[in-house]
Amino acid sequence: MTKVAVLVGSLRKDSFNRKIAKALAALTPGLEFDFVDIGAVSHYNQDLDTNPPADWVSFRKHIADADAVLFATAEYNRSVPGVLKNAIDVASRPYGQGALNGKPAAIISTSIGAIGGFGSNHHLRQSLAFLNMPVMGQPEAYIGGAAGLFDEAGNLISQGTKDFLATFGKAFEQHIALHAEDKQAAA
Ligand code: FNR
Repeated sequence: MTKVAVLVGSLRKDSFNRKIAKALAALTPGLEFDFVDIGAVSHYNQDLDTNPPADWVSFRKHIADADAVLFATAEYNRSVPGVLKNAIDVASRPYGQGALNGKPAAIISTSIGAIGGFGSNHHLRQSLAFLNMPVMGQPEAYIGGAAGLFDEAGNLISQGTKDFLATFGKAFEQHIALHAEDKQAAA
């Protein structure tokens, strides 16, 4: 089954971004989702490249074993939360052998604010372009007003958001399949 590594750009226990990513996973049965704990990835330090810490090795393997990557990220100060940028930096090395290279990707940004993490979403696209990751163009996912989308138990109650996530998941499946075909044709 096609495997998607999920990187959630928030460590918060009750993260709306994680809840949205979980809801997407439940609505997309054609893909297998592997939620990778980026909080366990220690700070990137180039001095450690020759003898990487065990958590980097394990994290890079999670990414390498996946067919694609889903980024579900918060927006901090109109940009990508540091914990997610750190994870990307770790996964991108050693130079020329980065685990993210060429993996199809999709981005969902979720915020309590009105513009749904647009700034974070697009700063992230800048890094992923450099990393040679084909990022799904449409549909875009900027989920705003997140605090009103869930019940007290944390379940997604917005039918509109559920419908959107189902559409997004289907499009991501197609995006990954298209990329796999391109890769085969090029081989
Ligand atoms: C925020 N938040 C925020 N929201 C936003 O729409 N744009 C922003 O630039 C910021 N900046 C920001 C900075 C910092 C340091 C914090 C802690 C928060 C609010 C943010 O959207 C809100 O906390 C979300 O709930 C974070 O996502 P999770 O943790 O629910 O996934």
